[in-house]
Amino acid sequence: MSQGFYISKTVAVIAAVVGIAAAVTIFGLSVAYSKQKPPAGGEGGGEGTLVAPTPPPEPKEPWERYRLPDTLSPVHYNITLWPRLEKDEHGMYIFTGHSTVDFVCVKTTDLILIHSHQLNLTKFSGHHATLTGLDGAAAPTIKTTWLQQKTQYLVIQLNGKLVPGKSYQLYTKFQGELADDLEGFYRSEYTENGIRRIVATTQMQATYARKAFPCFDEPAMKAIFHITLMHPPGTKALANSRDAEINTVSLEGKDVLITTFEPTERMSTYILAFIVSDFGSIKKDETGSTTMVRIWARKKALELGQGDYALNVTLRMLEFFEQYYNTSYPLTKSDQVALPDFNAGAMENWGLITYRETSLLYDPHTSSEGNKERVLTVIAHELAHMWFGNLVTLRWWNDLWLNEGFASYVEYLGANHAEPSWHIKDMIVQGDVQRAFAVDSFVSSHPLTRGEEEVNKPEEISQMFDTISYSKGAAVLRMLSEFLSEPVFVRGLSSYLHQFAFNNTVYSDLWDHLEKAALSTGLNLPYTVHEIMNRWILQMGFPLVTIDTATGSISQQHFLLDPDAVVDRPSIYNYEWIVPMKWMKNRVEQDQHWLTEKRAMFEPMRAEEGEWILANLNVSGYYRVNYDLQNWERLFAQLSSDHQVIPIINRAQIIDDAFSLAKGRILSTTVALRTTKYLMREQEYIPWQAAFSSLYYFFQMFDRTEVYGSMLAYLKKLVRPLYVKFTTSDRPLSHTMVYTRGLAVSLACTTGVAGSNELVLGMFHQWMKEPNNNRIDPNLKSTVYCKAIAAGGEEEWDFGWEMLRNATVASEAARLRSALACTKVPWLLNRYLEYTLDPTKIRKQDATSTIGYIANNVVGQSFAWDFFRSKWDYIFKEFGGGSFSFSHLITAVSRRFSTEFELQQLLDFKRDHPDLGSGKAALSQAIEKTTANIKWMAENKKLVMDWFDTESA
Ligand SMILES: *[C@@H]1O[C@H](CO)[C@@H](O)[C@H](O)[C@H]1NC(C)=O
Ligand SMILES: *[C@@H]1O[C@H](CO)[C@@H](O)[C@H](O)[C@H]1NC(C)=O
Ligand SMILES: *[C@@H]1O[C@H](CO)[C@@H](O)[C@H](O)[C@H]1NC(C)=O
Ligand SMILES: *[C@@H]1O[C@H](CO)[C@@H](O)[C@H](O)[C@H]1NC(C)=O
Ligand SMILES: *[C@@H]1O[C@H](CO)[C@@H](O)[C@H](O)[C@H]1NC(C)=O
Ligand SMILES: [Zn+2]
Repeated sequence: MSQGFYISKTVAVIAAVVGIAAAVTIFGLSVAYSKQKPPAGGEGGGEGTLVAPTPPPEPKEPWERYRLPDTLSPVHYNITLWPRLEKDEHGMYIFTGHSTVDFVCVKTTDLILIHSHQLNLTKFSGHHATLTGLDGAAAPTIKTTWLQQKTQYLVIQLNGKLVPGKSYQLYTKFQGELADDLEGFYRSEYTENGIRRIVATTQMQATYARKAFPCFDEPAMKAIFHITLMHPPGTKALANSRDAEINTVSLEGKDVLITTFEPTERMSTYILAFIVSDFGSIKKDETGSTTMVRIWARKKALELGQGDYALNVTLRMLEFFEQYYNTSYPLTKSDQVALPDFNAGAMENWGLITYRETSLLYDPHTSSEGNKERVLTVIAHELAHMWFGNLVTLRWWNDLWLNEGFASYVEYLGANHAEPSWHIKDMIVQGDVQRAFAVDSFVSSHPLTRGEEEVNKPEEISQMFDTISYSKGAAVLRMLSEFLSEPVFVRGLSSYLHQFAFNNTVYSDLWDHLEKAALSTGLNLPYTVHEIMNRWILQMGFPLVTIDTATGSISQQHFLLDPDAVVDRPSIYNYEWIVPMKWMKNRVEQDQHWLTEKRAMFEPMRAEEGEWILANLNVSGYYRVNYDLQNWERLFAQLSSDHQVIPIINRAQIIDDAFSLAKGRILSTTVALRTTKYLMREQEYIPWQAAFSSLYYFFQMFDRTEVYGSMLAYLKKLVRPLYVKFTTSDRPLSHTMVYTRGLAVSLACTTGVAGSNELVLGMFHQWMKEPNNNRIDPNLKSTVYCKAIAAGGEEEWDFGWEMLRNATVASEAARLRSALACTKVPWLLNRYLEYTLDPTKIRKQDATSTIGYIANNVVGQSFAWDFFRSKWDYIFKEFGGGSFSFSHLITAVSRRFSTEFELQQLLDFKRDHPDLGSGKAALSQAIEKTTANIKWMAENKKLVMDWFDTESA
C-alpha cells in the first residue's frame, strides 16, 4: 500500500514549496502519527529485547485466538459476487454472493475456522455452510456453526474428523452491505454530466477480504481464485486476471451481465480486487509484449488526457522491474484504476492496482511538477510490489516493514528509470531517510520488526503501517544495497524471488539469499548479512557516529533528540550497530570502512591541516555524523569556496545533521546556523529544503519576537541571488529547479526581497481580471496564492474564496483553502475561523486542517487558540471522538508556545477539561513541548539574535 492516509512524502515536497505554513503541517503530522502508536514499554518490545514480553494468557478455544490454526490449507476458491448499484427497498446498497473453497486437511481436526466479517450468511439445514468431500473423501456432518464476532470467524464444528491429505469443499451463500466505508467490497460515488454514478470497488489490505466473502484471510493462506462478477449492462467488471467470458442473463426481470475471469495465480487474499464501474480506459499494446497495460478512470478525466502520463510511464517501469528483478512480470495484464474515494494513496492489488485520483491522474495543464512526481513515484511503488510482496509474500504482518520498506526504496529506482533527468534518487534523503530520523530519534520509537506473536488483532496489524515501516525500512534496505553493491543485491534478490515465487517467506530468507550472493561474488564483509542487518532491524533508533579528525578516533552512540530522555526498551545489542562507512577525504572517495565497535581508532580518518573528512557519503548509511569543531570549520570553508565538491545530498545532510545535533545539545546552535551561510551560492533544491525544514522551528519560536527582524534580514541575504536568477531568466527549468524556484519566490516574499510581493500580487491581480483564464504557472500557484493574499486585503481574499467555491479540481481547491489562511487581516482570519463551523462553507473533513493553517499564520495563531477554547464544545463534539485530526489540531494551535504564560494557559486548559478524548496525548505532548521550548529559548534566544545580527550586517 502506498501511504496517503497520513502523509505522503511527495506531498511534503509540494508543501515545502508552498511555503512555511504548509511545510509544518506535514512535519507536525508525521510526528503526531508516530505518537499515536502504543508506548514502547507496554507492548513488550521486539525480538531484540532482553526482557521476555509477558504475553496475555493464551485463550482456551481456537476461535478466541486471532490466528488461524495450522490444520487446513485453502487451494482454490470459486466466488460469485453481485454488487447492486442501486438502493434496495430498505434504502441500503448491498451485494450478494456465493462461494466455494476447496481446501486440504493438513492435520486432523473436527473444527473449521474461516474468516467472515459483517456478512449475513444463508443457513442450510440450520447451518451457515455446507461441507462436501472431494476426490472420494467422505465429509463429516456439521454439528453446529456460529459467528465469532470478536475474532471475525465463521466457526464450524463437525461430528467427525477431517483426514490429513484429503480435500474438502465448503460452500457459503451470503449478503453484505456495499457501504461507503472504504473497506472490503465498498461503494464510491461521483457525478459526471450531472448524473450520479456508483462504483463498486475493493480494499482488502490488511484484513477486509473477509468482509467480501468468507475466506482464510491471512497472507500465507495463498490459493487460486476463480472470480465471477454480476453487473448491470453498460458497466465494466474488472478483477485481478483477464476476463474469460461475458454473458447476459435475465434475472429479477432485468438483464444482468455475468463476467467470468480467468483463474488467478496462487496469491494472498489481501491483494485481491474487483471493481464494477462505468469508467473508461486507455491502453497500450506494445508489439512483442504479452502484457496488456490499461489505465481506468472517469471518462471525462481520460478525455482530458489525464491518464496519458500514467500509461506512458507504466510500460517503461515494468520493463525496468523485469530487468531489475531478473524475473518477468508474473501476470498477463496490468490494470490501474483511479477511484474518486480511496483511503490510502494506492493499493498494489495484483494486476488491478487502485489509486486515489491524485496519485494516478496528471493533467498537463493544471497539475504541477510535484503532482507529476507523486504520480510517478506511487506507480513505481505499486509496480514494485507486483514481484516483491505479491509474487513472494511475507508470511505475517510483523514483517510488513520489509514489504513496504522495499517498495519505498525501489520506487526511486523505477521512477529514475522512467524520468532519468529528474535525479529523483537523491530525493530519498529528505523523502525517507530524514523523515525516518525525525521519528526514530525519540524513545517512543520502536524496532522495525516485531515478533510474529506480538501482532494479532486487526488494529495491531494496521498499526504496522507507519513511518518506521515505510521510511526507515527504505533507508536500511538502501544501505544494505549500497554496502553489498547493487549487482550483489539484485543477484540475491532475484534468487530469493525465484526460490519463493507464489510462496511466503520471513525476512531472514532474504538475508540468506543476499549472503549467498555476497559469498559467490567474493565480497568481503566483516560479518554476515544477518549479523549486520539484525542490529538495524531488531533495535530501534540509529547511531550518531562521531569522528575526531585530530586523533582518528571514531565512536558511536544511540542518537536521541532529547538528551534527558530515558530509554526503557532494552536491546540485546546494547544500542550498538555495525556501521558501513563510505567516506571522503578532501575530494577523494576512500575505501569503505566498517565501524564495528563502540569506539575505535582508524588512522586514515586523522586529518592534517587543510584536509577535511566527510562521512556517510551520499547518505548511503542510516546514521548521523558529528566531527570535531576543526573539521566542521574545514567543511564550512569548503562549502564557501566551492560547495559543488561535496555531493548535493551531503550538503543537505550537513545541514540536517547539524540542526538535529544542536537540538540534542551535542553541537551549539550557532555552529548549526553556520551550515546555512553557503546557501547564498546554492541552487539545488535538496539542501535548501533541508535548511528550510530545519529553520522552521526558528520561524515558530521567533516570529513574535525581536529576533525575527534580524532573522529575516539574514534569510533575505541568502535568498536574494536565487530569486534574482529565477526572475531575470526564463530559460526552461529542470524538475528540481522548478521546486527551488517555488521555494525561492516564497522565501523572497516572506523576507521582503524587493519586487517579490509586487510580482506575485501582479500575477494574482491578472487572474482577478480574468477569472476564467488563470495563467499562473501551476508550480507557482501555491506560493502566489498565499503570498498575494498575505500582501492583499479583503478584495483578494474574497476573490480567493469565490475561486475556492467554484473550483472543480481537488488540488486547486486545496491550494486555495490553505492560501486563504495566509491573510494578515485579523477580521478576515476570524471570519474564516467561523466558516469552519459551517459545513456548507468548509467541508467537515477539512475543518481541523483549516484551523491548523490559520494557527500556522503568526497573526492567526492567537485567534485560533482563542477560537479553539471558546468553541470547545462544538469542536470536541465534532472531532473529539477518536479522530486523528483532533490531536493534530491541539498540536497546531499550541505549536508556537514558548513562554511561561502560554504554558500556564495550557495547564489551565488541561485542568478545566479532564476528558479530552483522542486529544489527551496531544495535550500532554503540547505541555512537554512548550516546556522544552521555554528552555530552548532561554538558552538560545540571545545567542541566535546576536548571530543573525552579525551575519545580516
Ligand atoms: C464455479 O461456480 C460456478 C457457479 O457458481 C460454476 O458454474 C463453475 O463450474 C464453478 N467453477 C469451478 C472451477 O468450480
Ligand atoms: C444483516 O442482518 C441484520 C440482522 O437481520 C440486518 O439488520 C442487516 O441489515 C443485514 N445486512 C445486510 C447487508 O443484509
Ligand atoms: C506520452 O508519450 C508521448 C509519446 O512519447 C508524448 O508525446 C506525450 O507527451 C506523453 N504524454 C505525457 C502526458 O507525458
Ligand atoms: C513453499 O515454501 C515451503 C517452505 O520453503 C515449501 O515447503 C513449500 O513446498 C512451498 N510451496 C510451494 C507451493 O511452492
Ligand atoms: C462562480 O460560480 C457562481 C455560481 O455558480 C457564478 O455566479 C460565478 O460567476 C462563478 N464565478 C466565476 C469567476 O466563474
Ligand atoms: Zn506499499
